Amino acid sequence: MKVKKISHIAVAGNDAEASRVLYEDILGLTFNGSEPVETEGVTTHFFGVGESNIEMLEPLSEDSTVGKFLGKRGPGLHHIALEVEGLDEYVLKLKSAGIVLLSDEPKIGAHNMRIIFIHPKSTGGVLVELCEKV
Ligand code: CO
Repeated sequence: MKVKKISHIAVAGNDAEASRVLYEDILGLTFNGSEPVETEGVTTHFFGVGESNIEMLEPLSEDSTVGKFLGKRGPGLHHIALEVEGLDEYVLKLKSAGIVLLSDEPKIGAHNMRIIFIHPKSTGGVLVELCEKV
């Protein structure tokens, strides 16, 4: 069981091209691909920063989770993701500590990672994702 690194910092927005211009053209980050994640109702756009990424989240529809987030709060920080080894053990440990998770079991997210989210009310207000390579 180990937290290896910050996998990504996710920012929700509606203008993926403006984000691409900023992160890739102007700041010179490496574009690491776009990927629709149908189960989450988003397209993810990854920009490499060292061993981490900025993940731009673009909703596939207004009634998706990220679409609702944007409707309510506007563009901004959506979640922080930590890459771990031993995700299932972490899930058990979190549950036994009474930490609130958004789902009962990890799901498959972008880049073929198993992911689970910790509810903001258990983290001091920031949605936190734990992810593990499949
Ligand atoms: Co994420």
